[in-house]
Amino acid sequence: MCGIVGYYGPENPVDVIIKGLKTLEYRGYDSAGVAILNNGVFKRVRAEGKLSHLEKKLSTETFNGHLGVGHTRWATHGPPVEKNAHPHVVGGASIVHNGIIENYAELKDQLIKAGSIFHSDTDSELIAHLVSHEIEIGKDLFHAVIEILPKLEGAYSVLAVHEKYPEEIVAFKSGPPLVVGKNEKEVVVASDLQAIMPYTKNVVFLQDNEILHVTGTKIEFFDDRGQKINKKETKVDWNPELIEKQGYDHYMLKEIYEQPRAVAMAMGPHVDLASKEVRLCKVGFGVGQLEDLEQLEARADWENTLKTFEGVERVFMVACGTSFYAGMVGEYLIERLSKIPVECDIASEFRYRHPVIPKNSLVVVVSQSGETADTLAALRLAREAGAKVLSICNVKNSSMDREADGHLYMNAGVEIGVASTKALSSTIALMNCLAVALGKAKKQLNEGDEHKFVEALLAAPSHMESVLAYDKFFAEAADTLKDFRGFLYMGRGIHYPIALEGALKMKELAYMHAEGYAAGEMKHGPLALIDQSMAIIMLAPSDELYDKTVSNLEEAKARGGKIISIGSGKNEKLEVLSDHYLALPEVEWTINPLLELIPLQLMSYHVADRLGKDIDQPRNLAKSVTVE
Ligand code: F6R
Repeated sequence: MCGIVGYYGPENPVDVIIKGLKTLEYRGYDSAGVAILNNGVFKRVRAEGKLSHLEKKLSTETFNGHLGVGHTRWATHGPPVEKNAHPHVVGGASIVHNGIIENYAELKDQLIKAGSIFHSDTDSELIAHLVSHEIEIGKDLFHAVIEILPKLEGAYSVLAVHEKYPEEIVAFKSGPPLVVGKNEKEVVVASDLQAIMPYTKNVVFLQDNEILHVTGTKIEFFDDRGQKINKKETKVDWNPELIEKQGYDHYMLKEIYEQPRAVAMAMGPHVDLASKEVRLCKVGFGVGQLEDLEQLEARADWENTLKTFEGVERVFMVACGTSFYAGMVGEYLIERLSKIPVECDIASEFRYRHPVIPKNSLVVVVSQSGETADTLAALRLAREAGAKVLSICNVKNSSMDREADGHLYMNAGVEIGVASTKALSSTIALMNCLAVALGKAKKQLNEGDEHKFVEALLAAPSHMESVLAYDKFFAEAADTLKDFRGFLYMGRGIHYPIALEGALKMKELAYMHAEGYAAGEMKHGPLALIDQSMAIIMLAPSDELYDKTVSNLEEAKARGGKIISIGSGKNEKLEVLSDHYLALPEVEWTINPLLELIPLQLMSYHVADRLGKDIDQPRNLAKSVTVE
């Protein structure tokens, strides 16, 4: 899940590549490097750590060239030190690689036996050796790549350049994304759209086993046997303002504050304000090509979606991390509203557990990035099994979006903070819409209930605005909270996934021990953890499980834990039982997750900030996990 950028054109390649890498730094920030063709030879500069370290080194360098490649790394093979930073250079060849070469040990062994000398611990360096060798024995750059492709196993997207071919970049992929854009004078190829957007809005996404050959400003596409193929350009909507911090100290805080809007944007296309009905818009089951979605007639598509849903007997929710918790919220909503059985799976487990996927299943994959390797593999497995796959992605045209049968969009806007926030809220809004749609299709939801749930959803953004006021509370409470030994987050039913999410946020941002538990499980072990040094965060909004949750709270209180409880409206019982009681607006049970997750995000944010942690780029993490 590294970020890669290549450039050909009249600008200083260093400037374009660094600007591009900055937008991709969320993919990894262990080290960074560039190789720029400078008076006919590649000049390489690399630095350990964040991109700013590389920028400092580059500030004393001058370059005279028109072509280069760059990389920001999330370490897989070999520690994050300079010798392992990309680009890897062998002979005249320079390469940058995102992914993992699974058979690298065997290939490296063969190369060493044949006399190659390796300078890094990475799997990636061998690609530079292979390319360089093919060129030494007479191949040109393009044919060198064709020659080495069958040898590589694993997940990769690679840019290869060579001093003998000063006008050329050859790019190829199997797994992680690659996209290219060109205008009259320049070409940019990168892992993600945002690196290309300043230069053109017309882009081409490479599919697996396709090769891009850049020669000057000419771009051509080939299959892995070297046969030319035609590819369609996609026009992308993009608003650069959306990726500025806009006065917030961190992207994460900005994104927390953007959640009411994100929820409105997610549900917007799917709810009819006048009739208070859900009509999923342009899901596109049966349409095939993603580009054709734009031309879909919304009403006809909705009727097709309803028909598809009528045949669904089982739903699988498959995702990773925060997106998985969004799937769990979906499980509670869909089972209650549609009576369809739902199974939730962590994608990395699903793909290897030999899941039984009946043909009439709907497999919902949730992914902010649309590129998470395990979720993408799960999607492919589900399609092979003959199930219908519905993707819920934030990044349009991402791999999952392109490969799914049906599409829902988070519409959360660009999420830069590595810890996911607004993508979760958007997805919970979509899960509400999906549950109502399935409930209607299965004739389990009457009109009155539909109106009730839709009204509740429509009101959610303004309730969320009011909950953001807890920002101030946690900005102060963080001083005390940071000294706790650990945090236990608890909830029952639909609150349980939010408890898990609260704990994940605390772990990833503040690097503190935190666990999420189903509150009823406490007495089966976790109660032993509770003493004065343990903070208990109890999610207890009013619903049918409220009384049981309060009993669990009493058990925790009796063991001396410090308690923050989160409930609905004025609640004397919770006030008495808790050290701090946070009141949320009283809403329909379907909406509670959207409200209760905000205080948990703010809590982790402020504790991490007080501890001086790197909030937008927590250590060891990356935003887009395109390796297993
Ligand atoms: C946590 C977080 C991760 C992601 C996970 C899945 O804050 O951001 O747990 O949710 O890596 O990523 P996507 O949604 O892109 O598949």
